[in-house]
Amino acid sequence: MSIQFDEQSRSFKLDTPSASYVLQITEKGQLLHRYWGKTVSDYDLGALLPWNGAQTIGLQGENTIDAGGEMAFEFPGGGAGDHRVPAVTAVAADGSSAVDLRYVSHSVTPGKPPLSGLPATYVNSDDEAETLVIETADDYSGLTATLYYTVFKNLDVITRHAVLGNKAATPLTLGYALSAAIELPTNKYKMLGLPGAWARERQVEWAPLRRGGQSLQSRRGYSSAMMNPFTALADLDASETRGDVYGFNLVYSGSFLIEAEVDHKDTTRVVIGVNPYDFSWKLEPGELFTTPEAVLVFSATGYGEMSRTYHKLYSKNLCRGVWRDKRRPILINNWEATYFNFNADRLVGLAEKAAEAGIEMLVMDDGWFGKRDDDRSGLGDWFVNEEKLGCSLAELVERVDDAGLSFGIWFEPEMINPDSDLYRAHPDWVLRIPTRPANLGRNQLVLDMSRPDVQDYLVERISDVLGQADIKYLKWDCNRYLTETFSALLPADRSREVWHRYILGLYDVLDRITSAFPKVLFESCASGGGRYDPGMLYYMPQTWTSDNTDAIDRLSIQYGTSFAYPIRTMGAHVSAIPNHQTGRNTPFMTRGDVALQGTFGYELDLTKLDEAEFDLIEDQIDRYQEYQKLIFGGDFYRLISPFENPFEAAWMYVSPDKKAAFVQCVLQRKVANHVPRRVQLQGLDPAALYFIEELGVSYHGDSLMHIGFEIPEVFGDHESICLTIKRK
Ligand code: DGJ
Repeated sequence: MSIQFDEQSRSFKLDTPSASYVLQITEKGQLLHRYWGKTVSDYDLGALLPWNGAQTIGLQGENTIDAGGEMAFEFPGGGAGDHRVPAVTAVAADGSSAVDLRYVSHSVTPGKPPLSGLPATYVNSDDEAETLVIETADDYSGLTATLYYTVFKNLDVITRHAVLGNKAATPLTLGYALSAAIELPTNKYKMLGLPGAWARERQVEWAPLRRGGQSLQSRRGYSSAMMNPFTALADLDASETRGDVYGFNLVYSGSFLIEAEVDHKDTTRVVIGVNPYDFSWKLEPGELFTTPEAVLVFSATGYGEMSRTYHKLYSKNLCRGVWRDKRRPILINNWEATYFNFNADRLVGLAEKAAEAGIEMLVMDDGWFGKRDDDRSGLGDWFVNEEKLGCSLAELVERVDDAGLSFGIWFEPEMINPDSDLYRAHPDWVLRIPTRPANLGRNQLVLDMSRPDVQDYLVERISDVLGQADIKYLKWDCNRYLTETFSALLPADRSREVWHRYILGLYDVLDRITSAFPKVLFESCASGGGRYDPGMLYYMPQTWTSDNTDAIDRLSIQYGTSFAYPIRTMGAHVSAIPNHQTGRNTPFMTRGDVALQGTFGYELDLTKLDEAEFDLIEDQIDRYQEYQKLIFGGDFYRLISPFENPFEAAWMYVSPDKKAAFVQCVLQRKVANHVPRRVQLQGLDPAALYFIEELGVSYHGDSLMHIGFEIPEVFGDHESICLTIKRK
């Protein structure tokens, strides 16, 4: 059993393969977080860990424990003695605001229940996990909080969320409605963020914790390129292979908050959930609010293992559908090849050339609908522009099919240009404040996804287009963030619910479309990787990692992304040189090798390649075919970080049976007479003998991991090296 309750100490112990998570109910019914870390045998940790309240300011009163209210609460509320960052706050009808939740009851069930209206991890069979449900309530305000903990049996994963309710006779208004809080007894950690921007998403940034609150957040209405809903706290000297690491990731695609607060006693509280910024949610008596799911991962052996745990969980217990475990088609996307300037003949020409090279799918990107020859008009009018294409969609798909390729299509459903028939017919369908001008972003406004009529319109339009031809793939783009976030349909006292209702509306549309078209492969995108989060991965098993297709910049972007997200979910394409985002020239094979780290495809005008380069596509595709299984299903190890090393970046994949491995290294910048870089491999069987094909040598796994070898010298910037390792 992964979940045990000790009656005597009134403690719960949640055990994953190498970690324990302990909760305890006090005499007065408060639910305290006691411990999360390497496996422990005891339940009652009273003499080892203080209540974290003994020396606080000495509040007196019925509700105080010992001498204060600042205890290690499992789901802290505000206003009743705890002054640190809360997980939940609620304003009662009389305007008062205090939350002090007490234990009511608990139950344990096999498996994992779904979350109402929200994406979440799931189990394939009930024996994969157990779920603890703890009912808590504040009898004064009437707030109830049902806390869910799912404990995975074979992975060091605990997922958490809460369902908040109102048992009072009058409404409550939630301010903070977060998903989880964790208490760590020290502040001796460094904290990882994955900040970025358009075209440089998810850069790796570690910083030691300091007193006070340090937050990672998005207030943009989507998870954003600027910050990812993920963090890790790690021992100060932790590395890829060493140290305790605590990972936190939110299964949510909207504004989020992750905050680590170090208090005056050097303890650390971490909270994660929907961003309380500009948010409130009215709970009428009897109503419920479900928070998104937080995925907590522990590793006692460094952050490499944490990442592999996330990869395994998300590959098999988050992504869904027929494409979850299937090799993805090698695609060519016409965006960087043609931008808006295409018709059916040009696309078919591209498809014919692509077929010669062994590419399997053509994706028609932005510009096929409404009146859309640039980014100033047409969004919202999801009707095929046959005049521009020169034929119907069905005819185009048939011609591409005749060329030997399957067909994919682009949509940006949540957006609308003021210059569109949809806007002219429904100006009230956008997010805007009626009394002030609305900001445009990329010449577009945002549809009010909280409106059922908008949701129905999108489902109807997308279904109609998908029904017109044999479409096998859909890229779901989203190219601006939210401003003037106001819905014409919500009353004033529910107005600030619009941020979350937008996301719920988006999830509803995604759910309906993906269920109606289960065979279509969906890829999410938001100006590149602006919405790379587990919420989107639940509906779409791959994400366009970045609009930056430069192979050298991609090293950092993909490296950062790999901290939380499986390699198999990362959209990666070979593009033209000079690169359209950086102007850099990189060798064709290097571009292919970097694009192998993901779903693999092309994004360039193949008709303009010279013969020598065109011939290299065959080599790249051969390499893809040879290693695809290993990359898709193998364990991923980061070896040399491009963030810590200006010269090389390296990583490797190891098959689950440890019989094969594939090492990749890319030279970011060549220096003359440089000190050869030594790389120690990871993840091999120490006792097994391996042959490295390209070096022609055989060594045992332990030698390759403990001693390693020097990266063979290459000449010229941006060269790549691939090593094939096979067990003898
Ligand atoms: C942003 C995407 O990231 C690009 O790949 C492309 O689809 C454009 N939008 C089209 O507008």
